[in-house]
Amino acid sequence: PVLVVDFGAQYAQLIARRVREASVYSEIVPSSMPVEDMLAKQPAAIVLSGGPSSVYEEGAPQIDPALFEAGVPVLGICYGFQAMALALGGEVAHTGLREYGGTKVTAADESTLLHGTPADQSVWMSHGDAVHKAPPGFTVLAESAGAPVAAFENTEKSFYGVQWHPEVKHSTFGQKVLTNFLHNGAKLPGDWTTGNVIDEQVARIKAQIGDAKVICALSGGVDSAVAAALVQRAVGDQLTCVFVDHGLLRQGEAEQVEQEYVATTGVKLKVVDASTRFLTALAGVSDPETKRKIIGREFIRVFEDAAREVVEEAHESDGGDVKFLVQGTLYPDVVESGGGTGTANIKSHHNVGGLPDDLQFELVEPLRTLFKDEVRAVGSQLGLPDEIVQRQPFPGPGLAIRIVGEVTKDRLETLRQADAIVRAELSAAGLDREIWQCPVVLLADVRSVGVQGDGRTYGHPIVLRPVSSEDAMTADWTRVPYELLAKISTRITNEVAEVNRVVLDVTSKPPGTIEWE
Ligand code: XMP
Repeated sequence: PVLVVDFGAQYAQLIARRVREASVYSEIVPSSMPVEDMLAKQPAAIVLSGGPSSVYEEGAPQIDPALFEAGVPVLGICYGFQAMALALGGEVAHTGLREYGGTKVTAADESTLLHGTPADQSVWMSHGDAVHKAPPGFTVLAESAGAPVAAFENTEKSFYGVQWHPEVKHSTFGQKVLTNFLHNGAKLPGDWTTGNVIDEQVARIKAQIGDAKVICALSGGVDSAVAAALVQRAVGDQLTCVFVDHGLLRQGEAEQVEQEYVATTGVKLKVVDASTRFLTALAGVSDPETKRKIIGREFIRVFEDAAREVVEEAHESDGGDVKFLVQGTLYPDVVESGGGTGTANIKSHHNVGGLPDDLQFELVEPLRTLFKDEVRAVGSQLGLPDEIVQRQPFPGPGLAIRIVGEVTKDRLETLRQADAIVRAELSAAGLDREIWQCPVVLLADVRSVGVQGDGRTYGHPIVLRPVSSEDAMTADWTRVPYELLAKISTRITNEVAEVNRVVLDVTSKPPGTIEWE
């Protein structure tokens, strides 16, 4: 792999993704990892990420010079560039001046790293210190107002560096710089493709599972759908999927899993209709966290029962053992939890956790090395429909946390109708990509007076919460065109009984969260 050494900035994951976009497999390792451990991974190249503001800061991570003696091509970025300069005998000036944001650099005519990029280009900078002198043997490739040495290379040793952030889109030729390094500098072939990922994972899954049996909980979301499809491709009917229908999904979603997903993948599916059980458990509950806890608890119980049945059925049919459980853990979860291997990282209640002793499964995690966009690409290549593969985020507790107040069957139906209208109209307007997700919320405990036809109404408001986001950590409300909002509002108030008002949430996150509960 190409190792992306993470110096603690938020950019390491982005760099790893961009490297993969250049069809080269990458992994992230912490800068605290000893160099011998890094080299034990037999890296094809190493990218040093950005990091703290200054190499002179107390406790700033250093680079072990041994890294530069292994004959592995290295690209230093921002902090990594400065740390590299320092380690190889260059000079880094503690200027205290900051260069931040879009910046112009002037690039040299001929080089490997900046090949095919113009002399004047716009890049994204974020640095205080600056490299004033390149290490011996290096050619200076670019300068900016705040950085006399803004890029350098030593093609003989295959060492390269840039002060700016080639991984962010604001650096106009950023991806070109990365591909120059990977394909021309490090001479990597660029043969890591979605098709290869599938072949490799299928082989791995086969080797892990052998002829044992395996179980998977489908949630209706992208990750479990793709993970199960991969396992199905590898071991066919040794896999049984369980879909716990908690009755809190949106219109058409349960059918999508039960019919379309089964038809396209051929998975053996056990459907458990637990909607009554969940409604009973939620009766009288309005507090959001209590709702979440109840749903999490009930989910585990229902899944346990279903898993037990699958285990028993397997025993009765041919004596085979169900030994494995599929989980849709993604690479960001692995990285954020320290990159350890083997143990599951259970982030939210709707992932299966805390199963009792007599149901101990080994985990199969075919998406452990993949980012979300790669999971979607794999799903598409496996033939899954766009409605599943491109699905926007949807919370595990489902519509229960979009009804402010007690959850009842009627209220769920009301919300489902309103939500279906919103989704249909946003999709028809082509906004599914621009909008990260659009929670539709029923204020079940609020009533307002209205007039419809000749009569007075006293109904509930529906809140629209369209947001734009990169990662759900922060978000802004999406400026949906007024005409479209008008159409949605008219349709909801005309078509959904009980709703006589539609309001728009214009709060960013923070301070508002994306969901209302
Ligand atoms: P908030 O509301 O915290 O949501 O801004 C951030 C993202 O997480 C989703 N979300 C959940 N997902 N279980 C989940 O699986 C939950 O309890 C839950 N609560 C919020 C939300 O839809 C958004 O994408």
